[in-house]
Amino acid sequence: MSFVAYDRPVRTAFIGLGRIYDLNVRGYLDNPEADVVALVDPSPDRRAQRQQDWPEAATFASVAELAASGLEVDAVESLLPAPLHADGVVDMLDRGWHVNCQKPMCNDLAGARKMLKAAEANNRVLRVMENYLFYQPLHQLKAVVESGEIGEVVGYHMKMVGVGNGGWDVPWSSFEWQMEQMKVGRGIMIFDDGWHKLSTALWLFGPIRQVRAWIGNTHMGPGVDIDAPTMIMWEHESGIRGAWDVTCAPDMYLRSDYYTNDERWEVTGYKGFARVNRCTGRGIQQPSVEVYADGEMRSYHALDDDWGSTFRDSGRHWLRWLHTGEGPLLWSAEEATDVLRFALAAYESSAAGGTGGDPREGR
Ligand SMILES: NC(=O)c1ccc[n+]([C@@H]2O[C@H](COP(=O)([O-])OP(=O)(O)OC[C@H]3O[C@@H](n4cnc5c(N)ncnc54)[C@H](O)[C@@H]3O)[C@@H](O)[C@H]2O)c1
Repeated sequence: MSFVAYDRPVRTAFIGLGRIYDLNVRGYLDNPEADVVALVDPSPDRRAQRQQDWPEAATFASVAELAASGLEVDAVESLLPAPLHADGVVDMLDRGWHVNCQKPMCNDLAGARKMLKAAEANNRVLRVMENYLFYQPLHQLKAVVESGEIGEVVGYHMKMVGVGNGGWDVPWSSFEWQMEQMKVGRGIMIFDDGWHKLSTALWLFGPIRQVRAWIGNTHMGPGVDIDAPTMIMWEHESGIRGAWDVTCAPDMYLRSDYYTNDERWEVTGYKGFARVNRCTGRGIQQPSVEVYADGEMRSYHALDDDWGSTFRDSGRHWLRWLHTGEGPLLWSAEEATDVLRFALAAYESSAAGGTGGDPREGR
């Protein structure tokens, strides 16, 4: 792809103005690298609400209306419900816009291939943003591991508990499409939120050659199922093994400014360990990163451990990238496809009773 970097603000349209807009917008506020020129959502209430942030922006009920208006757009922030990503993003690329798409990329490899092809055919950039890769405590964890401070890595695990009480309000409409996703085997814990955890595994330790999974189900009520308890294990090409334990605690309360997820990452080395104690919610309220080695515990007290900052930094990274064309996209569409392959290999393994599968061989 030949990309010409922008030397002026990127004319941007927000497509989808729902719950996650509140965080994605942080990369654009007070950022001279973008001009938000359009806001698109079928909901008049959402359009009116978000117009307060961008009084100069034009509003539209659909992408087709925006395109028909003749308004010039360089790039879009695609915040559509996940089931609309594949077709929606192809449409946006076909209209000649660069796309910064929310995760999950799409439900299957056929969709991913369509999206990759559309980006190539239109000579446009497709990014599938991964805000967790901008979480400072995870950066610190990676730096500690790479510094050798805990010795050679012998393994790691991640933990995630979906907690029922606390956090910000999520409108029922934001759950409705999640329930549709669950019906087609793409649940909220493993595929939607879990996408981030799978991403961090790839980001921390590289390509994966084998995945084994045991995906469970908790029936919460009519039409509402949660894909936990679940355990997924894998082996990286380096030989490092990881495991992820996913549970659901419907009556637990967790303090959070956002979603109520209790999340942890812990890497064990030959001579110590390093762990991230929390992320989206405020579960363990100790310093967000702790490192044990040689009989001593070291804590990081001054990291930006506000999960919301990851959206600000991810958005700024995208806009900076569009002005330079340099460095990693975090993630590119190809890298996001590897995350999808990882998830698909877990589903295949679970369906086959937990046998090992190679994500690189998925069709
Ligand atoms: N990175 C993260 O941590 C994170 C967190 C939450 C959600 N997400 C992702 O963000 C995306 C959106 O999630 P959400 O929670 O904001 O959903 P939501 O349902 O709250 O918002 C989606 C919005 O899109 C609008 N919409 C529907 N069809 C449309 C169309 N054809 N054109 C334009 N707008 C349309 C809806 O009216 C709604 O306002 C999903 O892919 C989700 O997985 C990511």
